Amino acid sequence: MWEDRIQNLELRGRVVSADEAASWIHDGMTVGISGFTRAGDAKVVPLALAERVKREAKPLKINLWTGASVAEEVDDTLVRAGIVARRMPFQSNARMRDAINQGEVMYVDAHLSEMVEWVRAAELGPLDVAIIEATAILPNGGIVPSTSVGNSPTFAYTAQRIIVELNMRQSPLLLGVHDVFVPGPRPHRSPIPLTDASDRIGAPYIAVNPRKIAGIVITEREDHFAPLPPVDDDMKAIAGQLVEFFLHEVRRGRLPKNLHPLQSGVGALANGVLSAFVDSPFEHLQMYSEVLQDGVFDLMDAGKMDIASGCAITVSPERAGRVFRSLDRYRNRLILRPQEISNHPEVIRRLGVIAMNTALEADIYGNVNSTHIAGTQIMNGIGGSGDFARNALLSVFMTKSTAKHGHVSSIVPMVSHVDHTEHDVDIIVTERGLADLRGLAPRERARLIIDRCAHPAYRELLRDYYEEAVKRGGHTPHVLEQALSWHVAYQRTGSMRQA
Ligand code: COA
Repeated sequence: MWEDRIQNLELRGRVVSADEAASWIHDGMTVGISGFTRAGDAKVVPLALAERVKREAKPLKINLWTGASVAEEVDDTLVRAGIVARRMPFQSNARMRDAINQGEVMYVDAHLSEMVEWVRAAELGPLDVAIIEATAILPNGGIVPSTSVGNSPTFAYTAQRIIVELNMRQSPLLLGVHDVFVPGPRPHRSPIPLTDASDRIGAPYIAVNPRKIAGIVITEREDHFAPLPPVDDDMKAIAGQLVEFFLHEVRRGRLPKNLHPLQSGVGALANGVLSAFVDSPFEHLQMYSEVLQDGVFDLMDAGKMDIASGCAITVSPERAGRVFRSLDRYRNRLILRPQEISNHPEVIRRLGVIAMNTALEADIYGNVNSTHIAGTQIMNGIGGSGDFARNALLSVFMTKSTAKHGHVSSIVPMVSHVDHTEHDVDIIVTERGLADLRGLAPRERARLIIDRCAHPAYRELLRDYYEEAVKRGGHTPHVLEQALSWHVAYQRTGSMRQA
């Protein structure tokens, strides 16, 4: 019964259809939608908006803001309907990606912790409408988010009007999992009072003035999670390298036996590597991360992880049933925070997080590209990887040593786009080996990365490049006219082997 979930009596009178709520969105508006890595997306109002635009055949363009990537109901549907003028801060949808790469959608690829600072300071103009998925509305009008918190609190506080999608399929047991804390104004902001990944510092709901809630749409549309590929031998090998490295750090007294709080990036590789930690000797692990994928629940099930703090639960469809049906088993160990807190530089630095993110490619000096194929075509976006990499105790970047069936080397002379500079990268690891770059100068880094991380098919080519570069001298030697020749060869022939 939806009445049980709208506990504020006055707000029960504001239930509207998705069509009616969508009719409040007009050309030129900025719309902030809940959702983070396909979890907790507002779904039915965007679908109704796309239908309305098709029906009326009147052009309508919006600026679309979210927490991070959202599922087909939002990105795919809206871009197909030609509605999106600008998009921020992260996406992972094939059609949206195409529209961005063709210059049809202006994409602002922002650090996930930072966006709401701009929103609060009105640096990007006003937010007209916030559409937020909720599991319940409390007697005081507080909005209980669903499977993600993302940017929803600040969207709710700054928007002119709020639409709530009350999702009856989201577990009521999510109440109490969220911890909503929003930092005060700058420049005299107090420190964020979080000193352990398990700390709760805010409220379990988004506190809003009920008068701002213009309408509530009742829905039963489930989160649309993407499948994750099984853990393969390369992922196991990368996890093996990392486990060995962490054990070495523990033996040297540089890390405690249960390590420091872990962050694990988004996608198949990051998830596979975390899952493989189940076979490691580490116990009482903590997660201070952004997205909680299957690997987190593998570690909890194996009794190896005590607490997981993130801003979204994004599990594979196969895993979703098990996790949400038995949420009471996990809920005391789960905390979902706004993304500015889960990814906050201050907290990441204070906790000494071990950050493990994925590179598309890294160069011989340790610069990392996580976002652009051949320097031009956006894949997803930087997401939170920059928030973590810059501020972590240890910043690890992992990648398989080749992509595209061996035609692409993930270790290249010079990255074709830089997301993470050499200054923010401590460790590069592939299935071939691990390069610990801490305290090394560029010339030392190059030798180590080539020897340890490159695929044998490309190792000699990289050595040749480096030897030639050294002849020309410099702190960071390069042969500029050849530095991107591997990418040029890939564009021309489909293979870097032709470089
Ligand atoms: N050149 C060309 N293509 C490459 C490539 C390279 N160097 N490296 C990978 N690819 C291709 C893969 O072949 C694959 O292509 P396909 O979709 O056609 O199969 C695609 O890129 C994705 O690679 P995959 O191995 O499936 O990656 P993943 O699911 O592990 O995701 C990232 C990897 C980098 C795309 C993903 O982690 C990401 O978006 N990261 C940036 C944001 C981030 O780190 N967020 C976390 C912060 S908490």
